[in-house]
Amino acid sequence: MFQKEYINLVFNSSKQERFNLGGCAYIYPYLPGKVRKVTKIEFDLKFEYETMVALWRKGFHSMPKPLGISKDKNSILMEEIQDGVPLQEFLSLYQRGQISEACTTHIIELLQKVLSEFWSKEAVHGDLHANNILIGKDIQGAWKVWIIDFGATFFGGDYQIDRSRLQIFLEHYGVSALS
Ligand SMILES: Nc1ncnc2c1ncn2[C@@H]1O[C@H](COP(=O)(O)OP(=O)(O)OP(=O)(O)O)[C@@H](O)[C@H]1O
Ligand SMILES: [Mg+2]
Repeated sequence: MFQKEYINLVFNSSKQERFNLGGCAYIYPYLPGKVRKVTKIEFDLKFEYETMVALWRKGFHSMPKPLGISKDKNSILMEEIQDGVPLQEFLSLYQRGQISEACTTHIIELLQKVLSEFWSKEAVHGDLHANNILIGKDIQGAWKVWIIDFGATFFGGDYQIDRSRLQIFLEHYGVSALS
């Protein structure tokens, strides 16, 4: 489904360009299927790692599986979302006519489901912008949405802050709002 869109998406930019999108961290490939997130500044990633583990244990799996944290707490090892393209890039391609309306509607529906599940775990992402959501396909070839970057995530708050933040990005690209 939406094969042309998938090719436009995957070949639009390189893995390295996507890994460089981070503000406070470097993402490095680490063995096949794994990446390491390393802080650019002296900053402890223990909180982020523990939040990832808590989310994973609560049964939320539309995210990279956390695999470990270094002794100095400056880097997290996690599963790589293979060919995961940031939503920002997806929306830019949509704006340029390289992604169809139907494909975008499908992705927004998937995103809605993933977010509902995320919020149902009492989690608030805290930094839900369009580079912290990845779009791609699973191993069966079905479109999939993942959430990443849990440095500002907490449990037990009001998820409306996530919703309104994301809504701003979607409206900017002329995509109909989340329901
Ligand atoms: N597990 C992953 N698999 C594939 N790509 C990833 C993965 N984690 C991060 N990336 C890519 O690297 C970019 C930067 O990662 P991330 O958002 O975690 O860092 P960051 O924004 O610097 O973090 P922070 O907000 O804590 O400073 C993402 O936008 C994404 O494109
Ligand atoms: Mg980020």
